[in-house]
Amino acid sequence: MIKIAPSILSADFANMGRDVERLKVWGADAVHFDVMDGTFVPTITFGPAMCKAVRPYTELPIDVHIMVDHPETYIEPFKEAGADYLTFHAEADRHTHRTLQKIRLAGMKAGIALNPGTPVAMVEPVLNECDLVLVMSVNPGAGGQKFILNALEKIERLAQLKKERGYTYEIEVDGGINAETAALCVKAGATMLVSGSSVFKAADPAALIAEMQAMK
Ligand code: DX5
Ligand code: ZN
Repeated sequence: MIKIAPSILSADFANMGRDVERLKVWGADAVHFDVMDGTFVPTITFGPAMCKAVRPYTELPIDVHIMVDHPETYIEPFKEAGADYLTFHAEADRHTHRTLQKIRLAGMKAGIALNPGTPVAMVEPVLNECDLVLVMSVNPGAGGQKFILNALEKIERLAQLKKERGYTYEIEVDGGINAETAALCVKAGATMLVSGSSVFKAADPAALIAEMQAMK
């Protein structure tokens, strides 16, 4: 079954506890938590304090995606805030191998993210240290953008490497996911999908989540 992680970037920031609680009712598998620092990406969202604040509102894993420079400085704060997955951008770190190891050592699942312009080859040497690889299907910085098709080839490549080398990482896709693009990603080998605007704007979010979870 495909895991669905709705992004609370599309939630009501003034009612974050309530919206995080709803994700479980809708049948989601994780809470996707988009952190933006105003330098790696132009926007600023929220950080470890928000993670800590919403933690009591859900038992679902919190899937933190940090779109920030100097990702290693956020490992401890997010561990303390109750994060389960911590995914940082390959483009933002000169020491990806060490950062992945540090995240695992801190007791979280370690993820690495690739912008639309970044090839899989950039992270190939560190895939054995990854619990998750996040393929960005939009340029990070905002919700509600159009899916970029070059993600599909990268998903396929990651699925091939996973099979050949016996890796166990989740292949997560983030940006512009709706029922149509979700089907393409799953066909290509994705195991986990982030969806912000589609889920939060759906007339029936639970039905959309169930539809995507059942894709093959
Ligand atoms: C983009 C974020 C995404 C975004 C997805 O920078 O990483 O998680 O919120 O939103 P939608 O599903 O609206 O494209
Ligand atoms: Zn994200």
